[in-house]
Amino acid sequence: TQINLEEHFQNKIDSEIRIEPKDWMPDAYRKTLIRQISQHAHSEIVGMLPEANWITRAPTLNRKKILLAKVQDEAGHGLYLYCAAETLGVTRDETINDLHSGKAKYSSIFNYPTLTWADMGAIGWLVDGAAILNQVPLCRASYGPYARAMVRICKEESFHQRQGYELMMKLAQGSPEQKAMAQDAFNRWWWPTLMMFGPKDAESGNTELSMKWRIKRFTNDELRQRFVDVSIPQAEYLGLTIPDPDLKFNEETGHYEFGEIDWDEFWKVVKGNGACNKERVETRKKAFDDGAWVREAATAYHEKRKLREED
Ligand code: ACO
Repeated sequence: TQINLEEHFQNKIDSEIRIEPKDWMPDAYRKTLIRQISQHAHSEIVGMLPEANWITRAPTLNRKKILLAKVQDEAGHGLYLYCAAETLGVTRDETINDLHSGKAKYSSIFNYPTLTWADMGAIGWLVDGAAILNQVPLCRASYGPYARAMVRICKEESFHQRQGYELMMKLAQGSPEQKAMAQDAFNRWWWPTLMMFGPKDAESGNTELSMKWRIKRFTNDELRQRFVDVSIPQAEYLGLTIPDPDLKFNEETGHYEFGEIDWDEFWKVVKGNGACNKERVETRKKAFDDGAWVREAATAYHEKRKLREED
C-alpha cells in the first residue's frame, strides 16, 4: 500500500541508502528533485555567460586558457545535471523550454553584469566558493544520479575557486589601480554572493522536506554563515575591506555576525527583473536556435547509421 511504500522509502533515506531512478519514490520527492536539479543545470549553463564575456579580453594567453577551460567546465556540469534530471522522467526539451520561456528559475547571481577583469577573480573566489560550500553536501544527496554528478562537479569547482583567488591575489598585490579594481569587484559581488544561498530559513518553503529527504543536509542560513566565516579571513589576507559596516566577530560563538541582506533586491532578481535577466535568457535562446543545425545533423547521421546497420 501507499503507506508502506512511503515508510519503506523514508527508512531507506534514514539508513543512507540511495534512491535510484527505478525505485519507488513519492511524487513530491520526484517533483522537488526535478525542480532543484533543473534549476541547478540552468544555473551552470547561464553561468557561462558572465565569464564568457571576458574570454576575448583576458590579459594574457595563460589567463585566457584558464578562463576558457573554466567556462567549458560549466557547460559540462550543466549537461551532467540535465541528464540527472532526465532520469526522473522529464525530457531535455521540457527543461530547456522552461528556461527559455522564463518559467524556470536559475541562480540570481548570474543576472549581475561583469564590468571589469577583476570580476573574473571575484566570481571564481566568491561565487564558485559559495557554490562549493553549497554543493559538497549534495555529493551525499539521497538521489543517486544527482549525488554522483556532484562529485566531479565539486572537484572542478575547487579548481575554479583557486584560480579566482589567485587572480584576486595578483590584483591585490599589483598597482594601486589593480588593487582598486579588486576592491571594486569585491564590493559589487559580496552581497549578491550571500544571496546565492537562498532566502532566510524562515522564508524557505522547500527546506523542511528537502532536509527530511536528505536532498539538503544543511539549511540556507547554515551554509551562508559558513561561507561568511571562511571568506572573511581570505578577504583580510588579500588586504581588502569587507563592504559591510555591521560585520563583527563574535568571540563567544566563534562566528562572524553580518549586516542584513537586501531581500527586496534578491526577490527582484529571482522574479526576473535584475540587471541582466532578460539579456541572459535572450542569449541562451539565440545560442539554442543557432545550434539547431548541429542537432539536426546529429539526428540525420544517427538515422543514416541505423539504416546502414539494417542493410
Ligand atoms: N536564485 C534564484 N532562485 C533562488 C535562489 C537564488 N539564489 N535561492 C532560492 N531560490 C528560489 C528557490 O529555487 C525556490 O523557488 P521554487 O520553490 O520556485 O523552486 C525559492 O527561491 C525559495 O527558496 P528555497 O525554498 O530555499 O529553495 P531550495 O530549498 O531549493 O534552496 C538552493 C535553494 C539552496 C539554491 C537549493 O535549491 C540548492 O542547493 N540548489 C542546488 C545548487 C544550485 O542550484 N546552485 C546554483 C548556483 S551555483 C553554480 O551554478 C555555479
